[in-house]
Amino acid sequence: MKTVITLLPGDGIGPEVLAAGRSVLEFIAQGSGHTFEMQEFLIGGCAINARGTALPADTLEACRNADAILLGAVGGPEWDDPTAAVRPEQGLLGLRKNLDLYANLRPVKPHPGLLDASPLRSELLKEVDLLVVRELTGGIYFGEPRQRLLLNGEEQAVDTMTYTESEVRRVAHMAFQLARQRQGKVTSVDKANVLECSRLWRQTVTKVAAEYPDVAIEHLLVDAAAMYLLTRPGSFDVILTANLFGDILTDEASVLSGSMGNLASASLGETVNSLGKPRGLYEPIHGSAPDIAGKGIANPIGTILSTAMLLRHSLGLETEAQAVEEAVQATISNGHRTPDLGGELSTRSLTDEIKQNLDLAQAAVSEG
Ligand code: IPM
Ligand code: MG
Repeated sequence: MKTVITLLPGDGIGPEVLAAGRSVLEFIAQGSGHTFEMQEFLIGGCAINARGTALPADTLEACRNADAILLGAVGGPEWDDPTAAVRPEQGLLGLRKNLDLYANLRPVKPHPGLLDASPLRSELLKEVDLLVVRELTGGIYFGEPRQRLLLNGEEQAVDTMTYTESEVRRVAHMAFQLARQRQGKVTSVDKANVLECSRLWRQTVTKVAAEYPDVAIEHLLVDAAAMYLLTRPGSFDVILTANLFGDILTDEASVLSGSMGNLASASLGETVNSLGKPRGLYEPIHGSAPDIAGKGIANPIGTILSTAMLLRHSLGLETEAQAVEEAVQATISNGHRTPDLGGELSTRSLTDEIKQNLDLAQAAVSEG
């Protein structure tokens, strides 16, 4: 059967890491007999330059028609003018919102070979195996009004944080269900001592938690959670949090893995694809890294691990997903590194190493 994967390279290092992810998917297709129909579309700054909008209609259409979407990164200094009417990030935010991808899954499990790459002491990192479930289509990212105005002759800016009970409930259910398949613990992170939204968040999560008596629940304020991520990172299993807090905490959590370039993500909602699986958006958590764009040295691991999540969640190809993850582990174990992790390999050479290990991993799978 033909599976449609829409590819969105985006800006900066986006096209470089996306090419790595694409080549892994092509390699999997060759080796397994699946047919992946892959086509690239514009999003972000490059779309603004070509079409005047960060999310062209044909891009959105191709995403709606896809079984899964793989994205590189959006943004860059070229489009950073604070007075600009259109911004690259609107492409990504618009896509998440239009496809109702309300749950963003960001796993963090430091590779034993990379413990020294983190500024944290390695004994703190050994037990780390956590999953952040970030609410992705609500909160201050999307609340209205959002505007600039003149107040008493002074410029004022307004953003609005809103959450409805149902928005919190659905992402909470996702977190509890995922916790059941892991270590059975959810840490809900909010700012309930200050924010009304957080008080609704905590109240709703507490109600949902009652439906999962087998899952332990802990509530933390976001400031304390930011500290505990560094002082006791091994104590977390699933971290459930709102859009903005999740954005901030996952950059912090990426430090545990040694490099922001290592982390993958899946954004899921309720809509299903032609296979009856979630039509997900998969992307590394890093940005477009304009400082190294075009040099061919970006770390492709976050994107390649995102393809593993794509194979698992949207295509139901668990064996292939695991093979990709094992190939990445083996490549790191063998000492292969891009410059962000102190190595010298290019994006392409590291990807080739991973594919070589994938070959072996796949052979091992078929040999049983
Ligand atoms: C992320 C990014 C995005 C976000 C930006 C590019 C809009 O930082 O996916 O974490 O803030 O969600
Ligand atoms: Mg971010």
